[in-house]
Amino acid sequence: MEPFAVLALSLLIGALIFLISAAVTGSRRSLPPENSSNSNDEDSKVSNGVNERNAASKKQKLQRSRKEKLQQHVFTHPLLATTLKGHSANISCLDFSSNGKYLASCADDRTVRIWSTKDFLERDHRCVRANVELDHATHVCFSPDSRAFITWLANEETIRVFKMIKKDDGSFTFTAAPEDFAKKHKAPIVNIGIAETGKFIMSASSDTTILIWDLKGEVLATINTNQMNNAFATVSPCGRFVASCGFTPDVKVWEVCFIKSGEFREVTRAFDLKGHSAGIYSFAFSNDSRRMATVSKDGTWKLWDTDVEYKQQQDPYLLFTMKCNVSDPCRIALSPDARAVAISSGFNITVHSTKTGKQEEELLNVHGEEIAGLAFDINNRFLVSYGDRAIRVFHNVVGYRAVIEEMEGRLKKATTDAMRERLQQQINDAQSALEAVCTKKE
Ligand SMILES: *[C@@H]1O[C@H](CO)[C@@H](O)[C@H](O)[C@H]1NC(C)=O
Ligand SMILES: *[C@@H]1O[C@H](CO)[C@@H](O)[C@H](O)[C@H]1NC(C)=O
Ligand SMILES: *[C@@H]1O[C@H](CO)[C@@H](O)[C@H](O)[C@H]1NC(C)=O
Repeated sequence: MEPFAVLALSLLIGALIFLISAAVTGSRRSLPPENSSNSNDEDSKVSNGVNERNAASKKQKLQRSRKEKLQQHVFTHPLLATTLKGHSANISCLDFSSNGKYLASCADDRTVRIWSTKDFLERDHRCVRANVELDHATHVCFSPDSRAFITWLANEETIRVFKMIKKDDGSFTFTAAPEDFAKKHKAPIVNIGIAETGKFIMSASSDTTILIWDLKGEVLATINTNQMNNAFATVSPCGRFVASCGFTPDVKVWEVCFIKSGEFREVTRAFDLKGHSAGIYSFAFSNDSRRMATVSKDGTWKLWDTDVEYKQQQDPYLLFTMKCNVSDPCRIALSPDARAVAISSGFNITVHSTKTGKQEEELLNVHGEEIAGLAFDINNRFLVSYGDRAIRVFHNVVGYRAVIEEMEGRLKKATTDAMRERLQQQINDAQSALEAVCTKKE
């Protein structure tokens, strides 16, 4: 009798633990069926890679593909350049490489995929796949030299570095670094990043912690953001700043300082963006960090001039405040050249000009799941969004229009032929890009 009682009790406890952990991990994202199977099964699947030989798994696969079809979200729009398909689970993060050649995406399907940006406008889209053994990545970020990427591991709750080695035939092999970073965070992660200078890595969790690491995985500094919680945090594209937002109505920006020889010195407060009247969902930098955009629960988004001498106590200037109807989850992206802003809320995206603040484009029901994020490519040509299994790639027509308007204004004031020629070339390029989109429309 007694052994049975013990067995029953331990089964009950086991089931309880499983239920609790499922409730915790599954609260934000529903995992696909293949990820909720027991770990032995997972191990064999990972080591076997793609070949699932027996009939049982074939049947499983069939069911899965039927389910996938059901879940596939249909979306068309004149500004849609293409849809990148390949992931078999929801995409949680993506990143463009700074050489402009690649887009990395990661999903619950245990893979990171590297897409070639060159063929966005082609019919077929090549992507190569890196497997995340026994785990999956929730965040991905390219190294500045575009030859490695870092991932945040969902189960292990730390950073793993992958090297990308280009083979003679142009494809890649991926090698994980021998050791993952030490586990330090005590709450779920909100974002990771690598400075473009190559000097540090950042990770931020949903408590008030941001960690600054060196590239080898030693912690250089711990920041307490004091914002009740962290909703979002990022490294500025110039690699100088780290910033965060959360429950309080401000964005806090720090500078990560190094001495001339390259050694880490300190993290200092740089400036704050103050003016919203409620918590901030998300914010973004332009590529030179001279502009920032914020979107808040107060129902507005703001554009800021952050090209200031903060060491002389100069504060960022608020350029304008615009109303927007947003609710959680809400994200904002600023194009690298700061000419266009995109805001996602739920399933929808709006695109705005930063010259007037006006909404110029609206994209409704873009994904089958709520939009998890948005990004512009480094050449300001495309806006990408993700949330379900697909990546939507849109033409950045708002950016093209802004270039034409701005360059036409400058052309009138140009004083030399060389200047006029250069401006005219920029106008022609943007115009032909716009025309290509418009002819596709009809
Ligand atoms: C930022 O983007 C602009 C326009 O796309 C480009 O000319 C400039 O070199 C970029 N600057 C940095 C710091 O990357
Ligand atoms: C926001 O939503 C309200 C009601 O839902 C509507 O009256 C208002 O026009 C919307 N504002 C914008 C800027 O879309
Ligand atoms: C998305 O757009 C639809 C159609 O305008 C609207 O009904 C819905 O409320 C919007 N959702 C969000 C979260 O803005």
